[in-house]
Amino acid sequence: MGRALTRTAAEFPQLTLAGAIASPHSNALGRDAGELAGIEPLGLAVSADLAGALQNADVAIDFSLPEASGAHLAACRASGIPLLIGTTGLAQALGEADLAQAAQHIALLVASNTSLGVTLLTELVRHAAAALPVEFDVEILETHHRMKRDAPSGTALTLARTVADARGIAPAEALAGARSARSGPRRPGEVGFAVVRGGDVVGEHDVRFLGPGEQLVLGHRATDRAIFARGALTAALWLARQPAGRYEMRDIFV
Ligand SMILES: NC(=O)c1ccc[n+]([C@@H]2O[C@H](COP(=O)([O-])OP(=O)(O)OC[C@H]3O[C@@H](n4cnc5c(N)ncnc54)[C@H](OP(=O)(O)O)[C@@H]3O)[C@@H](O)[C@H]2O)c1
Repeated sequence: MGRALTRTAAEFPQLTLAGAIASPHSNALGRDAGELAGIEPLGLAVSADLAGALQNADVAIDFSLPEASGAHLAACRASGIPLLIGTTGLAQALGEADLAQAAQHIALLVASNTSLGVTLLTELVRHAAAALPVEFDVEILETHHRMKRDAPSGTALTLARTVADARGIAPAEALAGARSARSGPRRPGEVGFAVVRGGDVVGEHDVRFLGPGEQLVLGHRATDRAIFARGALTAALWLARQPAGRYEMRDIFV
């Protein structure tokens, strides 16, 4: 993601890269961030000195490891710099209380999917799930490349939890998982998943609302992994102008 962010930053003329940070043991230390990202040299060496880089920054973006994000959050808080965390699996290392406490001092946005399209899809699904009668069954179909390890995807799970939340159903009760192992009719209120794996598909999600006599299908197609970098940079530019507080990707559309 660091390389993708460096490459995609060139699409944002209002943005200047103030630092490129890796771990203190990284092979990348001292190398030019642009060359590493496969573009022209930027005259910016990869460094482990986050505090130094923050002196010239208006906002920071963290895509690293859960165990590293805590130190990055502390450094941003100490420098008063807004932070977007895209690192997933944060709960292993950083609790909600840590995030809430930091958000009293800096603008903090945490997002497990920074795609603008998926962010909007989630909001549309939230509205549809709340507006349509519960007779509209919800099924989620997702397709990814053959190398993907987890199923259903984290985005599919987020979409299912969004449906459950909008309908006031506990996610543990609503998520139906794979149906192949069990027979019987569909349970009222459950959200089912269908998973396809193959080829080099970056990511496809369809949320189907199946009602009496009609269907509504809301979907998203990812064709390039740069969408996560583009969304993160768009959100970071927005976050740099916000007061201290806790934010989500959907807030940038308000
Ligand atoms: N929110 C989203 O939409 C989204 C999209 C894609 C990925 N992600 C998440 O973003 C995270 C990174 O993904 P990735 O694919 O870029 O993984 P990756 O290729 O393993 O990169 C992790 C990076 O973190 C750096 N790092 C590790 N420890 C560090 C430390 N203590 N201080 C500073 N940098 C450190 C590593 O640099 P060195 O090893 O060189 O030190 C490496 O560049 C994962 O949690 C992934 O799930 C989120």
